[in-house]
Amino acid sequence: MSAENNVIPWWLPEINGSEWPLVRKVIDSNFLNDGKVTEDFESRITDIVGTRYAVGVTSGTTALYLSLLAAGVGVGDEVVVPDMTFIATANAVAMTGAKVVLVDVDEETLTMSPEAFGHAITPKTKAVIPVHVSGRGGTLNRICEIAKNHGIAVVEDAAEALGSVYCGKKLGSFGLTGCFSFSPNKTITTGQGGMIVTNDEAVHVRLRELKDQGRPVRGTGGDDVHASFGSNFKLTNLQSAVGLGQLESLASRMERQRSIHRIYRNRLKDLLGLRVLPFNVEGGECPQWTDVVVEKRNELDAFLKSRGAHCRRFWFPIHTQKPYFQKDDAYPNSTKLSPQSLWLPSAFQMTDADAERVCGMVCEFFKQ
Ligand SMILES: Cc1ncc(COP(=O)(O)O)c(C=O)c1O
Repeated sequence: MSAENNVIPWWLPEINGSEWPLVRKVIDSNFLNDGKVTEDFESRITDIVGTRYAVGVTSGTTALYLSLLAAGVGVGDEVVVPDMTFIATANAVAMTGAKVVLVDVDEETLTMSPEAFGHAITPKTKAVIPVHVSGRGGTLNRICEIAKNHGIAVVEDAAEALGSVYCGKKLGSFGLTGCFSFSPNKTITTGQGGMIVTNDEAVHVRLRELKDQGRPVRGTGGDDVHASFGSNFKLTNLQSAVGLGQLESLASRMERQRSIHRIYRNRLKDLLGLRVLPFNVEGGECPQWTDVVVEKRNELDAFLKSRGAHCRRFWFPIHTQKPYFQKDDAYPNSTKLSPQSLWLPSAFQMTDADAERVCGMVCEFFKQ
């Protein structure tokens, strides 16, 4: 895809020009702060996800943190988090003062193991954060069912799942809240930025206060009423203008991501020693990135890199990271699968021919 050096990157953000008129309008308006354009961006996200409310915030991490606060999570509570995720999921819990309770992942989907979740529940469990790894719903239905039976709030980490459909519904719309990220390696980006969606009116009001110093409505910065504790996590009009411009390409980008995945899935399905992780693309699920499990992960990664196809290795399990360190014993799946998991080149700019080229390289690796 890159004519210059023939490299196929793992991912490439794209600012393609549709953002410019919107950004210019914000600059000309002399109102760069969180305002009408952010409201428009929020409204477009509710249309896409199918929830009543959306609240723009500074990042996906903030979206998780504020969701937990809005769910009443704090010191003395426990929040269940899967062991294979970006560390932001655990950090958002730690920021509330609650205890991070890690659980193992499901072997098939790398999403939270429902059995492990069930075993981890105590009277202190206040919330659970299922993570839609690579845009996959995975075990979400079962997690929601267990949470409902125990009165536990579900905060969806949908950072990688904007627009992805699971069991006929958009991811992010299953829990008390759904949290999205617009960091540069997501399908649409605002540089940094995030969004929380919810159908719960009280949670919506609380989120607005939390992100704006406790003000339920926009103030002057002077004689405002601060109804509750809050801070400053606002998404600006400037960022939202970029987001609105990016959204114009969302559908076509997702179509490419599904198409790239289909090629990988079909071409690599018979390879012994490599498993393409499941996506129901026909049902509307959208791979933010295509992920595979392969025993010789590091060798394949190096081989593809030497031929110009760049991959990304999976996160280390959270329990192996210093702030959350524990022995491997309770996490057999993440311990085994993290070093075998790899994201193949998944940029939406890739052509079918690029994906075919990567498949050719992978097949060549296995013939060696
Ligand atoms: C699964 C997951 N959770 C949380 C985040 C945090 O989002 P952000 O980087 O916008 O804070 C990300 C992305 O970076 C992510 O991939």
